[in-house]
Amino acid sequence: MKRKEITHGPVRNWIFIGLQWGDETKGAWVYRFSLSHEVFLGIRSAGGSNAGHTVIIDGKVYALHEVPTTVLAGKTAILGSEMAVGVATLPDEIESLRQMGVDTEKIYLSDRASLLMPWHRFEDELREGGTSNLIGSTKKGIGQCYRDDTDRIGLRACELRKTKGEFLRVAKNSFDAAVSRLDRFYNANPKGWAGNFPEMILEKAYDILVGRVIDLPSFMGDVLKEKKGVLIECAQGAMLDLRHGTYPYVTSSHTGVAGALSGSSLSPSEIGTVLGVAKAYTTRVGNGPFPTKMEPEVEAFVREIGKEKGTTTGRDRDCGWLDLVQIKYACDINGVDGILLSKLDLLHQLPELRICLEYETSDGRRINHMPADLSEVRPILNSVESWKSPVNGCRHLWGLPVECRKYLGLIEDFTGRPIVGISVGAEASEYFTCCKNAEQLEMLP
Ligand code: IMP
Repeated sequence: MKRKEITHGPVRNWIFIGLQWGDETKGAWVYRFSLSHEVFLGIRSAGGSNAGHTVIIDGKVYALHEVPTTVLAGKTAILGSEMAVGVATLPDEIESLRQMGVDTEKIYLSDRASLLMPWHRFEDELREGGTSNLIGSTKKGIGQCYRDDTDRIGLRACELRKTKGEFLRVAKNSFDAAVSRLDRFYNANPKGWAGNFPEMILEKAYDILVGRVIDLPSFMGDVLKEKKGVLIECAQGAMLDLRHGTYPYVTSSHTGVAGALSGSSLSPSEIGTVLGVAKAYTTRVGNGPFPTKMEPEVEAFVREIGKEKGTTTGRDRDCGWLDLVQIKYACDINGVDGILLSKLDLLHQLPELRICLEYETSDGRRINHMPADLSEVRPILNSVESWKSPVNGCRHLWGLPVECRKYLGLIEDFTGRPIVGISVGAEASEYFTCCKNAEQLEMLP
């Protein structure tokens, strides 16, 4: 596999997407790349506080949920047009970043973004508390916010440009409509939960966010004209994409390149490089099919060594073997140019590794593509040799054990994409690119 060059010349508009079920450590990769002086701004394209992007810098742990990771590198950070922006959560996230010493002055949000109101979250909790059809959502109200948007009764961030009184009036109308809907569908009343209309939360949101609302399409037009570098940070992963994921066990936004473009106002012709982030194994949190889930004892071990607990909900993540059918599918539908492989430093602790290159359908056929309903297949797992020695100290590809290099080669050959970066530890400084020449791991910038 010929390695794609990641040039250290002008960084032109990178898109970072997750290739699995989220939690692939996209945040750390975006942070590493955003240190490059060529990067002017970062945009988080879609989703909301359901995401948890953790970055560890010199031992300090930053857990971002809505604010793009570029903020940690002191760069402009924009919440994009496809986001469900939490009026209750975003102000607190900005404040806690400020208290951690992060410069929060350059955080903006698109005036096209959807506003996620406290009653959306209440409804998500109600729905997930029901007895059937559970998605295993993060209970943040994401689906309810996007549903209102699709129903064209939602509120957009441009409402924050009105006077405070007018904003509160519009929000109150929306609240009253939600109350009567909740009454009808769930026989439940958010007034009982929220103590009537959450006016104080909305006033605080207004005060903190009003000066941060921008007209993203025209802002981006200027940025692109000036050829400044843009990083687009997608949330969740390809298998949670509303259209192409394991429906109905998906999130309610578009997690790939389509969402990235719509969320950022980047024109398709301006895409530079699409980088897909995957873990060296697979994890999933929430309900839904997971063909390559490991046997319980191995899974418990991997969960422990990989610290596989959700950043947002604290739930244990399910762990599974690497599923290359899934990763290739995610690469193909998103036009991925190169793969960033995370958490390569753990698997040597397992005596044997397995990898999925094919599925078997219920009628006994072998397929190597992703079916619409993943619950109908079982994985065919191939054994591969483990490398048995730690790689966390490796700083050169040739320093990786031969079995590890074979594992990387298998991924490259099956997906038809080069691995352009690996991570060998949790610290941001342990994320490397390996592209300048075939042998060397490099730090960006
Ligand atoms: P929702 O996005 O909260 O509606 O949850 C829908 C599904 O997506 C559930 O299975 C969640 O666990 C999953 N999900 C949402 N966001 C993330 C994430 O950032 N990482 C991993 N899973 C997520």
